[in-house]
Amino acid sequence: VFCDVSEDDYTLDPNHLEKILTITNDVIAVVVVSCFGHVPAMQRITDLCKEYNVYLIDDAAQSIGGICNGKPLSGWGDVGILSFGHSKIIDVGYGGAILTDDTSIYQYCKDLNETLPLIDERVLKLRSIYSKTYYTVEKLASENEELSALFWPFPQIFKELYIFRDTDLNRRIDDIIDNIDNLPAILGERKRYWDIYRDRLKKHRSIKLPRMCDGMSPWRFTFRIQKTKRTSLVEGLRARNIDVSTWYPSLQPRYPVSEPGNFINCGVANTLSYELVNLWIDPLNTNLSRVLYTCDIIDELLHPNYLINK
Ligand SMILES: Cc1ncc(COP(=O)(O)O)c(C=O)c1O
Repeated sequence: VFCDVSEDDYTLDPNHLEKILTITNDVIAVVVVSCFGHVPAMQRITDLCKEYNVYLIDDAAQSIGGICNGKPLSGWGDVGILSFGHSKIIDVGYGGAILTDDTSIYQYCKDLNETLPLIDERVLKLRSIYSKTYYTVEKLASENEELSALFWPFPQIFKELYIFRDTDLNRRIDDIIDNIDNLPAILGERKRYWDIYRDRLKKHRSIKLPRMCDGMSPWRFTFRIQKTKRTSLVEGLRARNIDVSTWYPSLQPRYPVSEPGNFINCGVANTLSYELVNLWIDPLNTNLSRVLYTCDIIDELLHPNYLINK
């Protein structure tokens, strides 16, 4: 069952969640994602999960260090998720953590871990096939939405890519610990770039900025732009070698579930598919002059529409 997201911070919309929980009994667990490092309405979502007796999975893969009402993201709910994978706030190449106070969930995950395949050449090869296949299908789906259904078998075909065991676990754990010590500095730098983007881009008429959230740990600087302008903006930035992405597309068209009661249109997520743009704010891949240069290029590309409150 897909739940819609809020239009100003792109995280799970509790009103939509409530609507789903009242009309279907099919939900076993709710996965709330602190997308882009934004802070979801955790208290309300937790209360709803308790009221309807469903598990809560607090996926903080993009928001380590984030806080909601004084409590860390990943610390809400029955299970918390962290990622230390490629491009995450703490990036050691691979790996993640599952956090829980529930001993039966802990034991289940521990046993499952023993059964996972080790990463090997075959998995690495599968990864390059995955990228090619993903972007080919994405292009086809952008030309004809019905072809989005080609994504349906991906989780089955590429299962081994999503979850495997590391061959170099101890070294990676040491790397993670070093990075955790450095987390306040990493987040400070990220927030600084996030604030600069927000401040510099607010003058553009065609751009809608994300809501500021207390306690956020920004992963990307993400904003909305009118659909008609997004392609030229993104192509213009890429032509100047500036990293930019249009993630995340709505998953709803890719998994056309049609059981009665299960399908409530995710209108906001479906619109965001065509409007989101995200810029890099990690100190490993960008720096102050690069951020300022990116803002200058955006001003240039959106000219003459930007001079609203200069
Ligand atoms: C929200 C979210 N959850 C989970 C994951 C999975 O993390 P990993 O790549 O470490 O498997 C990601 C990674 O992109 C993510 O963004």
